Amino acid sequence: MRVIVIGATGIIGRAVVAALAERHEVVSAHRQGDLPVDITSKESIERFYAAAGPFDALVSAAGDGRFGRLESLTDEDFAFSLSSKLMGQVNLVRAGLARVRDGGSFTLTSGLLARYPVVGSAALTLVNAGLEGFARVAALEAPRGVRVNVVSPTWVRETLLAMGRDGSGGLPAATVARAYVESVEGTRTGEVLDVRDFR
Ligand SMILES: NC(=O)c1ccc[n+]([C@@H]2O[C@H](COP(=O)([O-])OP(=O)(O)OC[C@H]3O[C@@H](n4cnc5c(N)ncnc54)[C@H](OP(=O)(O)O)[C@@H]3O)[C@@H](O)[C@H]2O)c1
Repeated sequence: MRVIVIGATGIIGRAVVAALAERHEVVSAHRQGDLPVDITSKESIERFYAAAGPFDALVSAAGDGRFGRLESLTDEDFAFSLSSKLMGQVNLVRAGLARVRDGGSFTLTSGLLARYPVVGSAALTLVNAGLEGFARVAALEAPRGVRVNVVSPTWVRETLLAMGRDGSGGLPAATVARAYVESVEGTRTGEVLDVRDFR
């Protein structure tokens, strides 16, 4: 398969690229490099797809959201979170549906905060839950056997370590990557793949 990975230089994206590259042709993308894409811009997404050419699967492990208690989150914090992690990934599917090969797939990234909110996660819980709802509907409407799933990561060990925190509560990125591989290579659609099921 020819698989596009957006966010390929990130902690999760790197592990997904490594896992998929064993069996597939992987096209790595992020905001820089040979095939730049900024998912917050629809024009950038269209340019990217035109340059990337045909593909069988797209994985997105990109998109940011802001943390903060309700009284401190600004309009800009919400707008940023919605335009980056939510609409960025939604627009990858909207613009990609007509381009992906028959029987192909899209795999987006949410996070456990969708179902297990914490104080300060309002914007991210909103975004993650929105992504999961979107994927269920997109899977229903997708033509030509195209599948749409969301992977829901918990804390990644390497992320906790990079933040100077105890990594023992996180899952290794290589373990998280297994959920993406299952979404790309399996038959599931309209599902939220919880990375804790892939330990
Ligand atoms: N790591 C965790 O513990 C964890 C837990 C739950 C959920 N998640 C979710 O998983 C996703 C990936 O997390 P991560 O930790 O791997 O992130 P990361 O290490 O910060 O990597 C993010 C990747 O996305 C790219 N990127 C960022 N903004 C972009 C944009 N606007 N357009 C295109 N590419 C963009 C980055 O490259 P450039 O900056 O060069 O563009 C990089 O390749 C995020 O949505 C995050 O919320 C992560």
